[in-house]
Amino acid sequence: MKIITVHAERSYDVIIDCDWKSEVLKLANGRSRVAVIYSTAMRDSIRFDADVDAEFHFFEVSDGEAAKNIASLSSLWNWLGAAGFTRSDLVIGIGGGAITDLAGFAAATWLRGIDWIGVPTSVAGMVDASVGGKTGINSDYGKNLIGAFYSPLSVIIDFSWLKTLSDRDFAAGLAEVIKCGFISDVEILRVIEGQSIESLRTQSDLIEELVSRSVQVKADVVGMDFKESFVREVLNYGHTLGHAIEIHSRYSLRHGEAISIGLVYAAELAHARGLIDSGVLDQHRRLLAALGLPITYEATAWPALWPLLALDKKSRGSQLRFVVLTALGATRRVEDLNEGELHSAYERISS
Ligand code: GLY
Repeated sequence: MKIITVHAERSYDVIIDCDWKSEVLKLANGRSRVAVIYSTAMRDSIRFDADVDAEFHFFEVSDGEAAKNIASLSSLWNWLGAAGFTRSDLVIGIGGGAITDLAGFAAATWLRGIDWIGVPTSVAGMVDASVGGKTGINSDYGKNLIGAFYSPLSVIIDFSWLKTLSDRDFAAGLAEVIKCGFISDVEILRVIEGQSIESLRTQSDLIEELVSRSVQVKADVVGMDFKESFVREVLNYGHTLGHAIEIHSRYSLRHGEAISIGLVYAAELAHARGLIDSGVLDQHRRLLAALGLPITYEATAWPALWPLLALDKKSRGSQLRFVVLTALGATRRVEDLNEGELHSAYERISS
């Protein structure tokens, strides 16, 4: 077992490589009620047979982004009210990033904030969504537009969940791991070099190392800038175009798949500005493609993607701002890219 402490508005532990049920039971001790919010796919795995004092209540939501809306949240609030949840009770979110985002936001808003625990069951949830205190739901106007920075009491990572994932979902989560390698911990890139999704899945020691290193990158960044005034933006490497592609694909692409394309795009932008050499650019394509992740997108999509990029611009002030690399593990922002540069970089990632 390994523990990484995140220092945000409060400090909390990410407990890596543990038995999630024993950790949850320890944290539930002394509470009157525990709300377990889980995705449909986890239905058969979430029962608690142990003898505990707390009353456990179970709330099932559909898998993926479909759960992250005001209708689910409203039913969840009503359900918490009907079950009499008080400020000393506990919420647990068990599932992928969408479920922990929803559970965390329900906890952030119920009685102005009750304790919650994240039990991520996907790679993306383990290395990104459940760590860092971003909670929320989607709005009709975009992803994650409604939410709160609200740290959990603890994040519990049990690798046995990963057996439930398809290769596609597993690889999608690794796009965020590779991102952490490029922006900060280059050892991640060395560990993943030469691996395929099949080879990685059989090496639990490598998975543990990759997840631990990525959580450490995230913990370090969040510790410096919890509310994303500037430093935390580095975690958005590959996300500016990636988010636009995710929306354009109507979520037929996994978040990590869209980010994979966005990472190559950001590397193309940096290469065109002379900030990185072709070796680093090729490394993006090589590592992501080796895991079966997409690295190109529809050539004809640019006119539709451009206004979606502008949406991202609105959320960050007047300038469209990209995180780019200046070397492996080193980043800066560029804000003066014109549409011509953005379009020609897109042509180099077009299929
Ligand atoms: N997923 C990016 C962040 O947590 O800031």
